Amino acid sequence: MAIRLIRKTKDPVLRQVSREVKEISPPLIALMEDMVETMYAAEGVGLAAPQVGINKRIIVIDVQDENGLLKLINPEIVSGEGKECSVEGCLSFPGIAGEVERDESVTVRALTPEGKTVEICASGLLARALQHEIDHLDGILFVDRVIRFIESDEKE
Ligand code: NI
Repeated sequence: MAIRLIRKTKDPVLRQVSREVKEISPPLIALMEDMVETMYAAEGVGLAAPQVGINKRIIVIDVQDENGLLKLINPEIVSGEGKECSVEGCLSFPGIAGEVERDESVTVRALTPEGKTVEICASGLLARALQHEIDHLDGILFVDRVIRFIESDEKE
């Protein structure tokens, strides 16, 4: 495993629409392991492949709840319910935070690294993280959705 460079702000790779994964290969599994290591090293709760410069539809999430670490391939939101406004940040935008409206709960369908189809029913922070990371796969960044930016003293 290795920590990969996190792409920031105006890097064009963040704006590409990522390609669907057709085959779960050993290099793809290795990429996912690197993404996990990179996310934990940066103390993030989620990371999408474009953030490490790879335009493939892969996300990793760990919001430190009972769902544990999620490694998802070709994730899709199949339904969403309710609206909730809360503060978000992104590892590609250090020091920036803002209020974003998201669906309060979502159902996401994806493949696991083992090639199994799973459906995840999520609410709260996990639902928010899923929507944020899936946005990355379509070249959509949280700053596009911010209703109000929050002053932040956080430095990186
Ligand atoms: Ni992000």
